[in-house]
Amino acid sequence: SILTQDELKKIAAYKAVEHVESGMILGLGSGSTVKHAVDRIGELLQMGKLKNIIGITTSENTHQRAMSVGIPLSDLDSHPVLDLAIDGADEVDPHLNLVKGRCGSLLREKMVEGACRKFVVIVDESKLVDHLGGSGLAMPVEVVPFCWKFTAKTLQDLFSEAGCVAKLKTCEEESGEPFVTDNGNYIVDLYFKKDIGDLRAASEAILQVAGVVEHGMFLNMATTVIVARELGITVKNK
Ligand code: A5P
Repeated sequence: SILTQDELKKIAAYKAVEHVESGMILGLGSGSTVKHAVDRIGELLQMGKLKNIIGITTSENTHQRAMSVGIPLSDLDSHPVLDLAIDGADEVDPHLNLVKGRCGSLLREKMVEGACRKFVVIVDESKLVDHLGGSGLAMPVEVVPFCWKFTAKTLQDLFSEAGCVAKLKTCEEESGEPFVTDNGNYIVDLYFKKDIGDLRAASEAILQVAGVVEHGMFLNMATTVIVARELGITVKNK
């Protein structure tokens, strides 16, 4: 292929930044794709092409990055309604439902992106799937550390028909230390062998488990998905 995955991510990110206008309250997502958008917004502020942007970040990582490129930052308490959020995703289905959080950020993303008038998702084409959870990759669930094994077992049993296996997210393969989220919680990754069926029902079932804080399915939240492909950009609108 001609373009690397990171170059595709950058193309999608730059396209999303075209939606940013001076004066906006802007939600800034997390991950390697959004990093390009954050850098670009910083650049446009620097050049004076954008003015009076206030960024609301969704992770400590993005917070550091946005500060380092000079984006003025605030929070949801001060700005409960945002104009636009830009974020990556791990999976995007044909209805623009998402899986997010594979890098460990999802709770702050869900709070911030749920408060946005527009939510633009940026991905390279590798993220497109027919059904969420069908890729064989993790569906992350943020849980409180207290008796996380109990919570993980409950989640696994909930989806036994889909052949679910629940695993604690660790920092590195070797250390085996639990990964700790920005909110001081753990992540239990769910892996499915079969289709999990109705997503809304799955979402509600997960949220009803005591010990669960939030999960990585973002249903009916994205308003636009920008997909960067080898052969150009595709924009899908809700
Ligand atoms: C962070 O945990 C996620 O929700 C990211 O948005 C998602 O993992 C996409 O990340 P990349 O842009 O690095 O693929």
